[in-house]
Amino acid sequence: MNPLSPSPNPAPGAALEALETLIPGMPRMRPGEVWIVGAGPGDPGLLTLHALSALLQADVLVHDALIDARTLALAPPQAVRIFAGKRGGRPSTHQDEITATLMDQARRGFRVVRLKGGDPFIFGRGGEEVAALVEAGIPNRVIPGLTSGLAGLSAVGIPATCRGVNQALFLATGHGAGRRPTPEGIDWPLVARLGQPVVLYMALKNLPFILEGLGQGGMAPETPAAVVAWATTAQERVVVATLGTLLETLRREGLDAPAIIVLGEIVNCRNTLQRVVTQAMGEVSSS
Ligand SMILES: C[S@@+](CC[C@H](N)C(=O)[O-])C[C@H]1O[C@@H](n2cnc3c(N)ncnc32)[C@H](O)[C@@H]1O
Repeated sequence: MNPLSPSPNPAPGAALEALETLIPGMPRMRPGEVWIVGAGPGDPGLLTLHALSALLQADVLVHDALIDARTLALAPPQAVRIFAGKRGGRPSTHQDEITATLMDQARRGFRVVRLKGGDPFIFGRGGEEVAALVEAGIPNRVIPGLTSGLAGLSAVGIPATCRGVNQALFLATGHGAGRRPTPEGIDWPLVARLGQPVVLYMALKNLPFILEGLGQGGMAPETPAAVVAWATTAQERVVVATLGTLLETLRREGLDAPAIIVLGEIVNCRNTLQRVVTQAMGEVSSS
């Protein structure tokens, strides 16, 4: 991680004062605090106003790999930016190292923003970071963000719930869903038997195993499926297929992570939302 010598953020600017007019009592960062902030799925326009406020106040910004450069630029120019991601051609940053950096910078009296993709508490290890801060007695706050598994679907016209179609939604990670599931692993046949749509994060690698399990539980090969890669970014791509054709379609189209996979009839609901669908870039349909 970077050697650090941030200079404390000077007096708040006009943007922060405008936010305070909009949100009376908006919390202000104090020196020595760490805020764990969700950045949403990608598009800087999907940041919350509280996330913007945090960025404007940061002395130190510890950020994930997939954060848009325009979002990082919202922090003051003198704020120190520390990459704490697990991709991007750079060596992975170990979770212990990230937590240690947050604590070290807070103890040195800086306002520390830990900016994470999506929502910090959805498959993002935000809970571990907050637990470590609490344990160390470091004041902290969590700013929720739009999670990619929901916002990424909305952005391409797939409603996560659709009246008359589904009454629930199963959000899951495919990470660790290898061929030999651990005792705490997901029982995919059981998930299929819920009869509700399934939204998968981090599932490209283990998708064959997951689809096999869902099929064993009775999810039909004709079940509509979609993959939304790089949702809400300029690289956004959507592939529509079925459970039976999804692997072949992905092989052909070569979508890469980050991607959300959704299985269920809600995928077909987007057909009635054509105006939104046409905004999706690079779309492929093979159903
Ligand atoms: C470590 S998880 C973090 C999830 C994040 N906390 C959230 O709430 O969206 C990373 C995974 O989220 C999903 N993801 C994040 N951003 C995405 C995007 N813009 N488009 C599609 N999937 C995304 C992908 O499945 C990716 O592998």
